[in-house]
Amino acid sequence: MTTPRPVPVLPAQGRRVAFVGKGGAGKSTLLSHFLPHWKKLGVPCVGIDTDVPGDDEHGTLYVHAAQTDFGVPVYPAPVPGQIRNEAQRLCPEKGLCALDTGAWERKKDGPHLPVVSAVDWLMLCMQPTGNELERAASVLGYVQQLKDTGAPAPELAIVLTMVGQSSAANDVEEELSSAGYLVLRNRYKFSTALDGPAHTFGRDIKVRGGSDIDLLAREVLDVVAR
Ligand SMILES: Nc1ncnc2c1ncn2[C@@H]1O[C@H](COP(=O)(O)OP(=O)(O)OP(=O)(O)O)[C@@H](O)[C@H]1O
Ligand SMILES: [Mg+2]
Repeated sequence: MTTPRPVPVLPAQGRRVAFVGKGGAGKSTLLSHFLPHWKKLGVPCVGIDTDVPGDDEHGTLYVHAAQTDFGVPVYPAPVPGQIRNEAQRLCPEKGLCALDTGAWERKKDGPHLPVVSAVDWLMLCMQPTGNELERAASVLGYVQQLKDTGAPAPELAIVLTMVGQSSAANDVEEELSSAGYLVLRNRYKFSTALDGPAHTFGRDIKVRGGSDIDLLAREVLDVVAR
């Protein structure tokens, strides 16, 4: 087995990174694995769950963190107007402040647009299918609009998620890359295995070295450290 490269040192002010994408793309599950794993790799982290699924309900990341000790703090959703301040205030020195979001909505009063303006990096999670390419256009278009109007815009990377055996991932990756988008090399695989990531709710999170989640977690660190 090859020895993994050392994890990068993040800048003094840390990095704020949000995971966005359509419902069910795997954002909360990925972050529930990344946060304890990044901590194990020596990166100080906090999570902010900006997803508020219904009255008096918290998003999955917050609920998951309340049931399983991630070893890092996870905060419930701030009001949209406070997301930027909170992300800045909570971001650890040389560490990561990771924001989970609910299903992407380009809505004026919702949390998503403030989240985009609160972070250094956006990780757009998407299943590599033609349909999802269409739906990703809303996120990509919004970031482009910010850039076009000279507003502060985050850097963007695309994470291919729920990637199945017969998936068209290579074609989608090729299409996105040739359009100039940064697509992460590692992918998050679809798995129904009982020891797979969809079955860790309320259980201890274990990320094996060399697994797709380990490699993806390390690649996210490499990318946001740039
Ligand atoms: N690798 C995987 N393979 C198969 N199923 C998965 C995998 N990861 C997560 N799941 C399951 O898929 C569903 C959606 O995952 P998750 O809740 O992480 O998505 P999400 O992007 O956070 O969705 P939302 O936008 O609704 O918050 C969940 O039931 C989860 O348990
Ligand atoms: Mg979620």
